[in-house]
Amino acid sequence: MDHTPAIDYRLLVDNLATAILLVDRDLNIFYLNSSCEALFDISLLRASGMPVLNLLHAPSDEFNTEEALKNTLETSQPYTRRDATINVNFKDIHVDYTVSLLNYSRPYHPLILIELNPIDRRLKISKEENLIQQHQVARQLIRGVAHEIKNPLGGIRGATQLLARSLNDPEYKEFTDIIISEVDRLRKLVDTMLGSRHLPSYKSTNIHEPLERVRSLIINQTKKKIKITRDYDLSLPDVYADRDQLIQVMLNIGVNAVQAMMENKEFFVDHQPELILRTRIQRLVTINSVLNRSAVRIDIEDNGPGVPEEIIESVFYPLVTGRAKGTGLGLSIAQNIMHQHNGMIECQSVPGKTVFSLYLPWESDHVAK
Ligand SMILES: Nc1ncnc2c1ncn2[C@@H]1O[C@H](COP(=O)(O)OP(=O)(O)OP(=O)(O)O)[C@@H](O)[C@H]1O
Ligand SMILES: [Mg+2]
Repeated sequence: MDHTPAIDYRLLVDNLATAILLVDRDLNIFYLNSSCEALFDISLLRASGMPVLNLLHAPSDEFNTEEALKNTLETSQPYTRRDATINVNFKDIHVDYTVSLLNYSRPYHPLILIELNPIDRRLKISKEENLIQQHQVARQLIRGVAHEIKNPLGGIRGATQLLARSLNDPEYKEFTDIIISEVDRLRKLVDTMLGSRHLPSYKSTNIHEPLERVRSLIINQTKKKIKITRDYDLSLPDVYADRDQLIQVMLNIGVNAVQAMMENKEFFVDHQPELILRTRIQRLVTINSVLNRSAVRIDIEDNGPGVPEEIIESVFYPLVTGRAKGTGLGLSIAQNIMHQHNGMIECQSVPGKTVFSLYLPWESDHVAK
């Protein structure tokens, strides 16, 4: 009697965290599983028939991938590469992969099986954990300082008002007005540093609704000087989130993009400033050390000059700014809100293409904190 349990192998392969590629004897792609689609950011439909070397070979890698694959085809000898470089969307990523011959029942149609494990994911997790820790320490420090500054401000304001009333000379009144308006400015800044005082209220939210709101706010602000393109996947599931806080996150990022474009007009001699709002489902994404099968991804992309290189690593830290008038709080607040939603923000930036991606888990077992 056959005791093998009935397993849907297709489902199994598609749920593996290992990326799997099948390649025919002409070295064209025959099949890739979901993890592989996510790894190379390509769909099976687009990839099938494509030369595998397009995916598996990075210009910066000196290894002769083509020869090695052909050798496996001829000799059936498997091989493993550690820390190989592959190039995805112009970005080098590092993978370990094993190549072997699939002994198919049809000997004249051999298939090469390639199993890939990205090692960046591991590297990224530890880097992220470090970042989160440093970020929390910095935020606590800032909150402490902000509190200390806020307390005496009320006293200074009150005393100045009293002083203003007892002064008859209008010339002096001008000075007290200056003190009061500067105190108010400081108070506003300190309030931003302390963050929102409202407790978040989480509800099932369609992220397109806050996104559309942000779009219209930006259109109003920029008076149509910037082209705004929408690229929405309307079939996205709802997420459990605080709508107003999401608006703040998207607005902080959107305003940065607008500022980067409007304040660097010389960058746009032969093209128009453009903001792209994109929504997608992202498979297999690690958020705060948890591997999620899928998450909702919102990209806010601009074609401005990019985040200055010297601050790219620390761009989410409080008080890091590349702008003369910036306070460097926008992104730190946004990242904080996303963490409270069990989500995260990632940034990729080169001149001409800056993408801030927001990730939000949506599956019901990820209930927001
Ligand atoms: N889309 C972008 N393109 C180029 N640079 C960017 C972009 N987004 C952010 N930056 C850089 O990151 C820095 C930090 O942004 P952040 O929003 O945290 O602070 P800020 O904009 O300087 O001040 P604020 O507190 O007023 O938001 C910015 O000063 C800018 O140099
Ligand atoms: Mg900002």
